[in-house]
Amino acid sequence: MSGALPRNGWPKDFTWGVSTSAYQIEGAAHEDGRGLSIWDVRAITKDKVYKNESGETACDHYHRYPEDIALMKGLGVDAYRFSLAWPRILPTGRTFVNEKGLDFYDRLIDSLLEAGIEPWACLYHWDLPQGLHSLGGWAQRECAGWFADYATLCARRYGDRVKKWITFNEFSVFTLFGYAIDWAAPGITDRATHLRAIHHVNLAHGMGVDVLRTHVKDAVIGAVHNRQAVWPEKDTEADRRAAALLNEHWNLAFPDPQILGHYPPLIARDMEPYIQGGDMAQICRPVDFFGLNHYGPIFAKEDLNSTWGFGWGDSPPGSPDHGIGWPVWPDAFRDELLELHRRYKLPVVVTENGCAGDDAVNADGKVEDPRRIKYLELYTAKMAEAMDAGVDVRGYFVWSLLDAFEWGSGYGPRFGLVHVDHSTQTRTPKSSYDWYKALIQSAKPA
Ligand code: FCB
Repeated sequence: MSGALPRNGWPKDFTWGVSTSAYQIEGAAHEDGRGLSIWDVRAITKDKVYKNESGETACDHYHRYPEDIALMKGLGVDAYRFSLAWPRILPTGRTFVNEKGLDFYDRLIDSLLEAGIEPWACLYHWDLPQGLHSLGGWAQRECAGWFADYATLCARRYGDRVKKWITFNEFSVFTLFGYAIDWAAPGITDRATHLRAIHHVNLAHGMGVDVLRTHVKDAVIGAVHNRQAVWPEKDTEADRRAAALLNEHWNLAFPDPQILGHYPPLIARDMEPYIQGGDMAQICRPVDFFGLNHYGPIFAKEDLNSTWGFGWGDSPPGSPDHGIGWPVWPDAFRDELLELHRRYKLPVVVTENGCAGDDAVNADGKVEDPRRIKYLELYTAKMAEAMDAGVDVRGYFVWSLLDAFEWGSGYGPRFGLVHVDHSTQTRTPKSSYDWYKALIQSAKPA
């Protein structure tokens, strides 16, 4: 195993983990009373997902979770970050509780604990119940209260065993792509709806933090934010303007109000019509860590046909990428860690980092993924550099344990440390699985 470590080695209580999310791996979409989410609906809407694929079966984790936990145990991870599916627990989003859905997560949590793996539960990884969307979803202020009720149910049910909690995954991705750019469910492109969704999701986060503090003894609570440097595609006034606005939507619209108590300057005035007395205090509740998801920087360009006037630009020709057009830029990861430490002054947990590929099982039955190993080597080395520069990083989770349903890209990009043949559900650990296992082993004190 190669790779750089912090000057004094990895801290002994550092958490090594893997991440997944419910809709991307569980499958069993119509089983045991689960209701529909906005992603089930998007997946059956023609041409919204690559090859019209869906998470209907995904990795069949709903039935195969014991095998997946055994894979995690083999890897030696300390923790597993997964999400609870709101429509599995409350099929229409509120009122009627689905006991069988609750039971599934009881089984999952208990089996993780038996295997010595700490559960890190995320309440919302993009799968809003369709029933709530029909009532207006995140564009509706009441949705924050519906979320708080769902959070209360989960906290009371699992809080005796789950101590690490995450309110939301990647606020800005699901609101921007779902309500301003038609790249994610529910596929709305409207400025006012997008702004309302931003504010109501922020409120829901704050209410969720309060509920978790009230109902879970010794809870450690955070939110997961995607943060990536946003650079202009071309050095023009128009692209610089596009990059500045995308940066606020992408990187600041959620952590700034949640941690600093105000919206960032370029969007603050747009938000005013939606803010009621007491809202900013309700949003800005103390959290215990900053969850960072990071893959690489983004390039922005002016796009006057888009909802906000910005679009995604190309990275400079020749820059290394994941194989799916995402740039590989390890220094940008270190700089992001330094910047968020400076801006928010919170302990950081890297809740997602990883590399896509089109990995296949070779004639010897093995999956060789040297590009992913190189990526993880480079990125963990940059994390070590940031830690040496004073950033308090407490944990690192690879996205992902399994090759999963990657939203609009379907099963195209494979991010797993474990290859999944989605027609047979055969799991094959890749060479990066062995690499990560060796890293974790070497990081533990003897
Ligand atoms: C992130 C998402 C996660 C996964 C990775 C590749 O934006 O949080 O669900 O799809 O990207």
